[in-house]
Amino acid sequence: MVTGRIPEPGVELLRAAGHDVDAWIEDDPMPRDELLRRVVGADALVTLLTERVDAELLDAAGPQLRAVCNVAVGHDNIDLAACRERAVTATNTPGVLTDATADLAMALILMVTRRLGEGERLVRSGEPWRWGMSMMLGTGLQGRRLGVVGMGQIGTALARRAQAFGMSVAYTNRRRVDPAVAAELGAAHVSLDELLATSDVVSLHCPLTPETRHLIGEAELATMRPGAFLVNTARGAVVDEAALVTALEAGRIAGAGLDVFEHEPQVHEGLLGRDDVVLIPHLGSATEETRAAMAVLAARNALALVTGETALTPIG
Ligand code: GLV
Repeated sequence: MVTGRIPEPGVELLRAAGHDVDAWIEDDPMPRDELLRRVVGADALVTLLTERVDAELLDAAGPQLRAVCNVAVGHDNIDLAACRERAVTATNTPGVLTDATADLAMALILMVTRRLGEGERLVRSGEPWRWGMSMMLGTGLQGRRLGVVGMGQIGTALARRAQAFGMSVAYTNRRRVDPAVAAELGAAHVSLDELLATSDVVSLHCPLTPETRHLIGEAELATMRPGAFLVNTARGAVVDEAALVTALEAGRIAGAGLDVFEHEPQVHEGLLGRDDVVLIPHLGSATEETRAAMAVLAARNALALVTGETALTPIG
C-alpha cells in the first residue's frame, strides 16, 4: 500500500513486479480512518513523512506486514520501536536527495545573508526604489565560517558548496567524519558550544530524535554570534521556534533561513512579518529528479523486503 501520492515510477515498479498495489493518488493525505481501513492485509507500506506510522497503524495492517518504506530520509514520523516489536523493517531514502537538499541549504544561506526575499518582496510590492550604495546591504560569505550541525551526507555536501563560496567549515557530529573528507574540506570537529560561538552561519542537518528536539533553544541562540544566521533544512522541532522568535526580536542573531517548521505546516506568527527571515515550505528534496529517485528507492526497498531479501537502505 502506498499511503500518499508519490511519483509514478515508484508505483509502476511495484505494479510491474506483479504486486497488488493500493496507491492513494490525491494530493491531500488520506484521512486516517480510511487509511486504517484500507491498510488491512498489506505486506508493505510506502509512506510519506506526513504519515504517522505507529503501533495503531502497524496493528491495523496485520501480522503479515514486513516493511515500512518511507519516501524521505528523515524518519521521525515512524515509531521504530513499534516496528521492531512487530518484526517490521523500516527503510528511508538516503543519498538520492543529498544534492537537492544541500543546494537548498546553500540557497537559503545566500537568500538570508544577501536579503533576497526582502529584495524580491520590495520589487513585487510596486513601491518606488532606486539603486543606492547603501541600499539593502547584506553580508558576504567569503572568509566566514559555516558551522554544520550533523555532518552526514547532506551536511558534508553543504560544506563542499560553502567551501566553493570561500567559507571555512566547522562541524559537530556524534562521529568524526572520514579524515580524508575532513582534510579536503578543512573541516574542524568542534563541540556544539564552540560551533555556535564561532560560526557566522549555523546550518542544521541532524535527524529529529528525542535528543535533538529543541537542540537549538534559548541558551544555544544566546551562544551564537550577534551577526550570525541560522539555517534549518532538517526538521522544524530541532529548533525551539518560540525561542528563535525571541532571539530575532531581541536582535541576538542576524537572521534565519527556514525550510522546516516546528508545527508544520503552521509557521510561528512571530516569523511571518519579519524581513530577517526566509521562509520556504519544506522544499529540501523538491526537484522532479530527486522525488522520482526517492519513490523508486522506497519501492525497491519494499520489493526486496516482501520477497525476503534484505533492504537496500534500512534505518539504523
Ligand atoms: C524530507 O524532509 C526528508 O526527510 O526526506
